[in-house]
Amino acid sequence: MNKYGLACFLAYRLLLLVFANGSGSKDRDVGDECDDDDGGGGGDHDGDEGDEGIHAREWITPATTTYFINQLLTSQDANITRLRDRFDWRIFPTVNPDGYTYSFNRDRMWRKTRSRSSMFCYGADPNRNWDYNWLKHGATSNPCDYQTYGGPKPFSEKETRSLSAYISSLENLLAYIAFHSDAQMLLTPYSDSVEHVDNYNDLIRIGKTSLEYGERVNGEKYDGPGTAAELLYKASGGSMDWVRNKLGTPIAYTYELRGTYFHWPPNRIHEQGDEVTQMLLGLFTEAEQLGYF
Ligand SMILES: *[C@@H]1O[C@H](CO)[C@@H](O)[C@H](O)[C@H]1NC(C)=O
Repeated sequence: MNKYGLACFLAYRLLLLVFANGSGSKDRDVGDECDDDDGGGGGDHDGDEGDEGIHAREWITPATTTYFINQLLTSQDANITRLRDRFDWRIFPTVNPDGYTYSFNRDRMWRKTRSRSSMFCYGADPNRNWDYNWLKHGATSNPCDYQTYGGPKPFSEKETRSLSAYISSLENLLAYIAFHSDAQMLLTPYSDSVEHVDNYNDLIRIGKTSLEYGERVNGEKYDGPGTAAELLYKASGGSMDWVRNKLGTPIAYTYELRGTYFHWPPNRIHEQGDEVTQMLLGLFTEAEQLGYF
């Protein structure tokens, strides 16, 4: 019981899931879907959903989550293999591939998608484009804004539209975890309100354990856990808030990883990779203690 797992190891190929319902994915390779089913394990949870790289320039997030996938698949640590086998994981290291590519080739600080938004401007902020309190706080309706243009309407971007459709199709979603950088903090819903969700106290407790596990790796302390509205700034239209509000997913977090102006040395990716692996282990260890699965 509960003994089933899915580990989906793709890098760019994962984009397929994101673009499956989108149109015009430019010329990027769209490979076969890696969606192995467990073959009848009959676990209770359709596991955990993570989205990373939604903001193009936050390069450490695809790197770290790819590292985490490798840990899930190859670690000999029984705590990690148990974590792998317990859930049906869905991991998306890059959910804004056009923006990600653009941040490599043209503009290192690019954050948005690459859709045409006006005569001269491109892109919407894919983490201000989700259909919950759209444009209410911390987003702009100016298509030429470099950072936080919410798009012409909710889910105007093929990336958010297809990802939200995919997430909606999952049954029994236990956790949704988004990765950003580089504020070095742990955020929990909602990002645009100081009102607390009904299991806020649990989320804080689970989040604290997660951060304790992470700190043990390299002594790095994160701020939080808390809501973005209280720790950072109010921002509406993000993926975590939509998942929590529309789908009622009990465990929802956004990790803001470390870095400086979105830079992190490639030869030190393993540091944050190991931290994130332990943070996720701590998260699910405490969630289990509290009876979430
Ligand atoms: C695995 O988890 C147990 C219980 O939390 C802990 O005592 C042990 O040190 C962990 N093992 C490793 C290798 O981290």
